[in-house]
Amino acid sequence: MATQSRHKIAVFASGYGSNFEVITRAAQSGEIPADVVLMVCDKPSARVCSLADAMGVEKFVFSAKDYPTKSDYEREIVRRCRECGIELICLAGYMRIVGEELLNAYKGRIINIHPSLLPAFAGARAIEQAMEYGVKVYGATIHYVDETLDGGKIIAQQAIEYEGDNIEELTALIHAAEYKLYIKTLQKLLK
Ligand code: GRF
Repeated sequence: MATQSRHKIAVFASGYGSNFEVITRAAQSGEIPADVVLMVCDKPSARVCSLADAMGVEKFVFSAKDYPTKSDYEREIVRRCRECGIELICLAGYMRIVGEELLNAYKGRIINIHPSLLPAFAGARAIEQAMEYGVKVYGATIHYVDETLDGGKIIAQQAIEYEGDNIEELTALIHAAEYKLYIKTLQKLLK
């Protein structure tokens, strides 16, 4: 990580964008020493796209089907990130496996948040699967991204005890924990 006081980060998302919102607000208020200078999204109709506009963050929105291969759209993502001087990529609900092109360009500088205590419940539907399993301690994990699905080295985790059976209530608890964990982790990583 560069030693300058404010870092340039990108947030990648595919949907609602609440983590994007929290990270961007923390950057704008100076809670983290960073500027969110780019939001990357693979779903043109996602809420996070209008959120980026409302929050004054430049965005790159693409449809994978418009590119012959993953390498082609990732090359374009890397080009945009470099153009913006991005130092760290924060995945927050980005529903695509990161490929070689992006991993090689940003080796060790891509992190992700996942709504479980990894390595348990990797992949989509982590919260539902954990509840179906009868888990009593849920959680959230921030990890480095590698070529595996939610499998890179763990940076930080937060446990959440919950014994109820209300998925909405649990999801809200996990999301609230995610927001705090992401900010705390970025504060540490960007120091
Ligand atoms: C979060 O729960 C995150 O852990 C997972 O996707 C969700 C994204 O939510 N990877 P949002 O788009 O940030 O609201």
